[in-house]
Amino acid sequence: MKSCFSYDRIASVYDLLSYFAFFGRIQQAQRYYLSQIPDGSNVLFLGGGTGWLLPDLFLSSHSRHITYIEASANMLLKAQNTVLRFQRQHPNTPIPSITFIYGTEQQIPFSSKYDVAITNFLLDMYSGSDLLTLVNRISKHLTDEAIWLFSDFHLSEHPRQRIWQKPLLSLMYYFFHLTAGIAIQPLPDFADVFGRFGWRSTHGSTFYQGFIRSQVYRRTKDVIPDAVAEDR
Ligand SMILES: C[S@@+](CC[C@H](N)C(=O)[O-])C[C@H]1O[C@@H](n2cnc3c(N)ncnc32)[C@H](O)[C@@H]1O
Repeated sequence: MKSCFSYDRIASVYDLLSYFAFFGRIQQAQRYYLSQIPDGSNVLFLGGGTGWLLPDLFLSSHSRHITYIEASANMLLKAQNTVLRFQRQHPNTPIPSITFIYGTEQQIPFSSKYDVAITNFLLDMYSGSDLLTLVNRISKHLTDEAIWLFSDFHLSEHPRQRIWQKPLLSLMYYFFHLTAGIAIQPLPDFADVFGRFGWRSTHGSTFYQGFIRSQVYRRTKDVIPDAVAEDR
């Protein structure tokens, strides 16, 4: 898989940008289904950036272990510091053991399978066969009963919302193309990609007038798909 992008240059401002650009909805979406993580889970967290979500993860679930994989060295360092800061501020709160890995899905350890995958605003950077390879690689590392927490942008079916969503999306891709080197591309059909690997959405919610979507996917064959709930 090609990796010609890097978030190193914008690691120091990324959280601020994403918070103010969407009035905190990006963060709200990522927190929304954390409570679905079963106690004692072995969690695979890919592309979590500065790790700002880790304290929420510690407080809203009781995972056993987290494998945190980041392709940007600066983002990874920030994530490690986020955990150290949390431990200083909450010395009596137990946290799971964490393995930090500088790399991509190609570096996912084979030691054991994972109960939970988390990918937030990561899959939109990929398309075509790269995206399929990425989802396939992650899928292979998950147990049959695993859940996949996924948040990303979504283009509404309503033409009135697409009118502002499409230019906003293009603007964002253009910005991250200039600053982080990501490819400008159409937003993938995530439901189709997940479906190809047997994943079905069991919970879904939208934010920012449908432009941001948070979902829980499961691989179980007989799962009853949930309708996506409107904006939170
Ligand atoms: C758009 S940022 C989102 C960061 C975080 N999820 C958030 O919403 O704040 C995408 C992050 O994924 C990382 N990344 C991209 N491809 C990756 C991959 N294949 N494996 C691990 N990290 C990846 C980038 O370095 C970047 O930090």
